[in-house]
Amino acid sequence: MKKLMFFAVAFALLISCGQQEQKSEMDTFISDLMSQMTVQEKIGQLNLVTPGGGILTGSVVSTDVENKIKTGRVGGIFGIYGPENLRQAQQMAVEESRLGIPMIFGADVIHGYKTTFPIPLGISASWDMELIEKTARIAAQEATADGIFWNFSPMVDIARDPRWGRVAEGAGEDPFLGSRVSEAMVRGYQQDDLTRENTMMSTVKHMALYGASEAGRDYNTVDMSRNRMFNDYMPPYKAAVDAGVGCVMTSFNDVDGIPASGNRWLLTELLRDDWGFEGFVVSDYTSINEMIAHGMGDLQTVSALALKAGLDMDMVGEGFLTTLEKSLEEGKVTEAEIDLACRRVLEAKYKLGLFEDPYRYFDALRPEKKILTAENRQAAREVAARSFVLLKNDNKFLPLKKSGTVALIGPLADNKNNMLGTWAPTGDPQLSVPVLDGIKNVAGDAVSVLYAKGANISDDPVFAAKVNVFGTRIDIDERSPEVMLREAVNTARRADVVVAVVGEATEMSGESGNRTNLDVPESQKKLIRALAETGKPLVLVLMAGRPLTIEEEVELADAILLTWHPGVEAGNAIADVLFGNYNPSGKLTMTFPRNVGQIPIYYAHRNTGRPQAGDEFEKFKTNYLDSPNSPLFSFGYGLSYTTFEYSDVSLSKTTISANETLEAKVTVTNTGEYDGEEVVQLYIRDVVTSITRPVKELKGFQKISLKAGESKEVSFTLSEEDLKFYNYDLDFVAEPGEFVVFIGTSSDEVKEARFVLE
Ligand code: BGC
Repeated sequence: MKKLMFFAVAFALLISCGQQEQKSEMDTFISDLMSQMTVQEKIGQLNLVTPGGGILTGSVVSTDVENKIKTGRVGGIFGIYGPENLRQAQQMAVEESRLGIPMIFGADVIHGYKTTFPIPLGISASWDMELIEKTARIAAQEATADGIFWNFSPMVDIARDPRWGRVAEGAGEDPFLGSRVSEAMVRGYQQDDLTRENTMMSTVKHMALYGASEAGRDYNTVDMSRNRMFNDYMPPYKAAVDAGVGCVMTSFNDVDGIPASGNRWLLTELLRDDWGFEGFVVSDYTSINEMIAHGMGDLQTVSALALKAGLDMDMVGEGFLTTLEKSLEEGKVTEAEIDLACRRVLEAKYKLGLFEDPYRYFDALRPEKKILTAENRQAAREVAARSFVLLKNDNKFLPLKKSGTVALIGPLADNKNNMLGTWAPTGDPQLSVPVLDGIKNVAGDAVSVLYAKGANISDDPVFAAKVNVFGTRIDIDERSPEVMLREAVNTARRADVVVAVVGEATEMSGESGNRTNLDVPESQKKLIRALAETGKPLVLVLMAGRPLTIEEEVELADAILLTWHPGVEAGNAIADVLFGNYNPSGKLTMTFPRNVGQIPIYYAHRNTGRPQAGDEFEKFKTNYLDSPNSPLFSFGYGLSYTTFEYSDVSLSKTTISANETLEAKVTVTNTGEYDGEEVVQLYIRDVVTSITRPVKELKGFQKISLKAGESKEVSFTLSEEDLKFYNYDLDFVAEPGEFVVFIGTSSDEVKEARFVLE
């Protein structure tokens, strides 16, 4: 044993010596390079441009890019794709600029490259970290084959306000789950080896707190206590840093009164000094310039502020490029500060192996072999099926039998334009499988399928125009709503079962896709009501980029399958689940409110001094006159075609001291008729604490698979580490006292036991 320990220590030392050596080689190389650079060239490395042509998320596009590259004034480019294009651009830098420093090429590869997976909020609902890592790995394989090796993903902003459109891009409301997803994505993209031709540098974003934009309005102000910041919002960014993420992107909002892009406490003291981040920091799209509107001064002032704060690369705004030299002359920044930022950008290039071979990602033959392969599409189909959440299934109505007549109805039923979801700039909607095709593929001739559109996604042309900025997502039919509705009702009457595919168009969520009304649009509500009135069994396939307020639809439908925006294999995956080839196992990672007035709503809330036990109104308790407190569907909720029964929770000890662990166990039994998977969730509550703490916090989960009738014991190990939180002084501590352990099938359906930490 001792011998083994010796070897382990010696090996670790060897590795760390090796890393040291590599680092000092890198330092020497970069110092040598920098000694040849003019100040202008150093500032040039801090400039990130986008030449346009792709999706632009700001009103500015870079100009005169070619000339800037050749004169050493561009450090990186994003938003152009393909080995040929990128090789050409790289040649300009390497062969025509004075020092030939290669550029870094980035893109937003958010949920797959060309093989588009479900939106990230959907992927997170799989609670399957291996699967999530695999999506990132496939994305990296495809993106690098197309010349992109720096990714602006994962987005890990904790989101508790579904009015905010960007909830679609993250992993939902919970810091523990969000952190696990964050690590898995970074691992998937980087694979612990950035020099490989099929891995890419990952960027965690948006640092920090972007998901807490007031009123769910994008880019809005954020004001938050340090307690909430550290305990609830910071963990997923930190998890990415701990997983070795290469880059951090700042957010648009302010953090404690100072915009993130100019916030030295955030970008240097916390990120680098406390967390030990060693990569580089990039701004968001013109977020340095936007500090002018935040009231922080003119372009020169805000650019200096950003550099001094620890921001290294300026996305699109060119504040660095146009003002830093002047600031240097005027003594407003130092050359050491410019050097530091330049060094960090060059280090990223070094780690990617660009100085060895700047063309390593530009093999013209790779795209054909690596992108959208049958294997990748199959993965997209499986991931999509695993991301779906069965919200309702009265009388075990689903799965459908592969016989009889299905009326497939709804504006999203035979629709390619809305399958990929938001932030899929590299995906091709035309390659996606509509639900109508999927049902035919899966059910074949055994089922006769009738189709009617039934309604527009929205009848409102003004709303549609806002959603359709990057192409038609809401297509208003030439026929009147009444004619379409009549056709749908007649179609429904001729079928045994109605499957209505309804919900949001893709760009109704995502960046700048905020809503104050989270209902299914009125045009579709009318359709759903009319279909329910026919008395035919009604299944809703609900597509959405966020939690919606669907209390009425839950009443009207027999079954509801939430499919998010499912990606390129949408229709096939949906049919797989509807017809029982796959038994749904997804669980919500964001609470579904009953109404917008309940927002923000999340399970891990603190207690009030006047908590209310149930949903019964009591005067002078914390509640509403016109709504229960409880959500429509809580975090962790999701049904299966089978049923699971949980035993009581048993603990191996009822008291533990600081360096002990305890086992919390349950036995889960599949009591239904189908094999299935279940996400077993463990929460804790710290009963007495020095600062207010959540009523319940996720601390563990396991996805298990059980054959019909099978039982499994599921065991979680808890240690003092799992009980720690940031106290008032922001020390990460566990406080002795009583804890409740909850284990169950969702955050609001659990069994409990208690123990004491001495
Ligand atoms: C978004 C970022 C994105 C960037 C580059 C911004 O508008 O906030 O998430 O990475 O654009 O496309």
